[in-house]
Amino acid sequence: MSAPRSGTQPPVSAPRSGTQPSAARLGHADLGAFVRAQTRLAAPPLIPEITLWLSHDEPTVLWERLEQASGRPDLPPPFWAYPWTGGIALARYLLDHPGQVAGQTVLDLASGSGLVAIVAARLGADAVTASDIDPVAATAIDLNARANDVALTITTTDLLAAAPAPQPGHAHPSSLVLVGDAFYERRMAHRALAFLRGLRDGGARVLIGDPGRAYLPDGLRQLARYDVPAWAGLEDTEIKPATVWELP
Ligand SMILES: C[S@@+](CC[C@H](N)C(=O)[O-])C[C@H]1O[C@@H](n2cnc3c(N)ncnc32)[C@H](O)[C@@H]1O
Repeated sequence: MSAPRSGTQPPVSAPRSGTQPSAARLGHADLGAFVRAQTRLAAPPLIPEITLWLSHDEPTVLWERLEQASGRPDLPPPFWAYPWTGGIALARYLLDHPGQVAGQTVLDLASGSGLVAIVAARLGADAVTASDIDPVAATAIDLNARANDVALTITTTDLLAAAPAPQPGHAHPSSLVLVGDAFYERRMAHRALAFLRGLRDGGARVLIGDPGRAYLPDGLRQLARYDVPAWAGLEDTEIKPATVWELP
């Protein structure tokens, strides 16, 4: 699992929440049953307001189980089973500044467990879309949204590829774009930055939570910093500082 572990890397058309059955299948696996069997409802570090279906197992161990259950050796790592440090910082920031979310139309890019999207919905966003290309993440996000009694739109469409990057002067439906811990891989970071700049130029506000991953762009404006207790040994230290940035 080449996911975010060191200081620079995180280790290792979908339905409206409530309409996507958690009995969705992938290969041999009933995804909802798999997620529930492999995780437990727990609050992420610093976020006692929210509970998610989270794993305490090594990501590689869970990844192997997923491959075995699904019969699919091509699935991405189970990022959805963990609360990543950047997402935790961003979620904490939003909870501490609820006025920045209320009434907004929110896109949570690279949603993983859905933590940031769920916090935005809880804080009174008008509408929230959680975007993650991993179909298992979509199932986990749906279960997590249900556990917190919020409604999300969940999409597995690759927004970074499906359409040309938004152009300056063309308003995007999202007024607030949230990105937790997505700058750990060169190609994705490059594509995400182009996409996010387009949304910003169209008038959206873009907030990023990140603990210093390798491909975090330069020139961001710092809003807040949190010392985040690392989940289940995902990071190289027990407490990982993470920053909330705005794309200026
Ligand atoms: C390190 S996880 C962060 C998850 C969550 N934001 C958090 O902070 O807990 C990165 C996530 O990005 C997703 N991802 C990768 N490429 C993507 C893309 N093109 N569009 C949307 N999500 C993507 C992965 O599937 C993974 O769930």
